[in-house]
Amino acid sequence: MPTLDSNVSIHRATREDAAFFPDIERASGVLFRQLEALAWIADDDVMAEAAHLPLIDAGAVWVARDAEVGVVGFLSAQQVGGVLHVWQMAVNPSHQRRGLGRALLRAAAVFARDADLEAITLTTFLEVPWNEPFYVGLGFTRIPDDALDDRLREVLAKEAQAGLPRERRCALSLNPRVLAD
Ligand SMILES: CC(C)(COP(=O)(O)OP(=O)(O)OC[C@H]1O[C@@H](n2cnc3c(N)ncnc32)[C@H](O)[C@@H]1OP(=O)(O)O)[C@@H](O)C(=O)NCCC(=O)NCCS
Repeated sequence: MPTLDSNVSIHRATREDAAFFPDIERASGVLFRQLEALAWIADDDVMAEAAHLPLIDAGAVWVARDAEVGVVGFLSAQQVGGVLHVWQMAVNPSHQRRGLGRALLRAAAVFARDADLEAITLTTFLEVPWNEPFYVGLGFTRIPDDALDDRLREVLAKEAQAGLPRERRCALSLNPRVLAD
């Protein structure tokens, strides 16, 4: 497994790891307090521990583990047909901006490449520095709204029903080889 610095490395998640995910996601969300219109996201619901378990069982969840403090970040994804869809990723504020987000995405890309999947997809906020621009910087491209397939259209519609402003959301796609090779 790749080592990021002397203390942190990326691993496939275990079921026990999932207990830490809601607190990490909640803590990571404080970033949104910097943005007046999206500050409420910091207090929004997070993905429940139970929702991660089937994804872990299917083998498409990774954690960043600090040898001293334990799990400090995760990426939770699901294979849907020929695509790996990332449902959530978060890194604890204590460990942000050290390359863990990129390393978690790289682990997902290696998995997707080795499984011969055509793409990694996700939905995120446009123009928020740690969302769309972060992913685009890693090689993701935005799928124009009029080119969305039914699956991603439905993901975005459900998010809008849950209160996320549709005009600020987008879907992104990456050829896994761009990040994995
Ligand atoms: C998205 C997230 C997981 C990235 O984790 P990370 O470990 O900080 O990611 P990396 O260190 O690999 O890369 C971070 C890059 O994102 C951008 N970024 C992250 N935080 C930023 C901030 N506060 N302001 C500006 N740019 C930021 C920068 O481009 C940064 O690279 P740099 O540090 O070299 O400038 C983390 O920001 C997070 O947990 N955010 C809150 C939850 C969230 O939005 N999840 C994604 C849902 S789609």
